[in-house]
Amino acid sequence: MVTGEMRFTTKELSKRTWPDFERFFSQVHGCACTLYLHGRHLPSVARTATERAERFGVPDRSRSVFPARAFGRAQELSAVKELVWQGRAHGILVYGRGEPVGWCHFGRASALPVVRDDRTPPEMVARHPSSDWRITCFTTRMDYRRRGVATTALAAALEAIRQRGGGWIEATPIAFPHNDPTVRKLRKTYRWRSQEVIDYLEENWPHKEVPGVGSVNACLTTAKSMSHAGTMSMFERFGFQPTKRDEYRSSDRSWDPGDSVVMRLQI
Ligand SMILES: CC(C)(COP(=O)(O)OP(=O)(O)OC[C@H]1O[C@@H](n2cnc3c(N)ncnc32)[C@H](O)[C@@H]1OP(=O)(O)O)[C@@H](O)C(=O)NCCC(=O)NCCS
Repeated sequence: MVTGEMRFTTKELSKRTWPDFERFFSQVHGCACTLYLHGRHLPSVARTATERAERFGVPDRSRSVFPARAFGRAQELSAVKELVWQGRAHGILVYGRGEPVGWCHFGRASALPVVRDDRTPPEMVARHPSSDWRITCFTTRMDYRRRGVATTALAAALEAIRQRGGGWIEATPIAFPHNDPTVRKLRKTYRWRSQEVIDYLEENWPHKEVPGVGSVNACLTTAKSMSHAGTMSMFERFGFQPTKRDEYRSSDRSWDPGDSVVMRLQI
């Protein structure tokens, strides 16, 4: 894909590209998809600030490396590495100028999360029992955002699924993004659940009609960042159809509205 002057390439996550995955997740936030692979975030070794200080020392806030965070990242990478070596973790790395700048996780619906038990939250499993595949998460390096990196990753994930025989693919993107700095300002001034925030949202929050789904609310984004699940429009471009509002990811809260939609495509 060519976006402006930038051409992106993609590779699948594998033992060979593992160093690129490590490099990518040393440059971005996010859990390296351990949430979707394990069905929950990995347990934290130190939950409170006091526990963290006891175990790792008090963080030096003048520096950008925090020992507790680095420890958590190392734990996440080691958990994903084990699954890559077992052939149980799949995804696409996007490269710009030879550097890994984007990531998209996909996997077989029957194998996500890899460990499933009574405590697995329902939002961690496929919404439609007949879905064969899931595309769960995107991450793009901050300096490469809004240039088509996630869209490039999505195209490559679809191709990777096609090469494995295809089937029904499911995703749960946000209905549509909306960047409204006033909401953030009001939340800061009056608090999240204040009447001022609720009144403003009631008057101003955009919604739209999605055929077969009904009315859906926008999700708040910033100019640079939005939900890791992508947007409906990204998936529509490749032929995905909306099937229903995603009850697990949508919010009816008057102080924090926002809908996600379950989308499917058969390839
Ligand atoms: C979601 C994310 C991956 C999008 O990546 P990207 O490379 O910027 O996406 P693209 O440039 O391919 O854009 C895809 C679509 O989203 C839209 N979009 C992307 N960022 C947007 C933003 N901040 N506001 C509004 N729309 C946005 C684009 O306009 C495009 O829409 P279109 O399909 O209608 O043309 C990126 O914002 C991100 O990394 N967010 C953080 C996700 C995260 O926390 N991941 C870790 C989870 S543990």
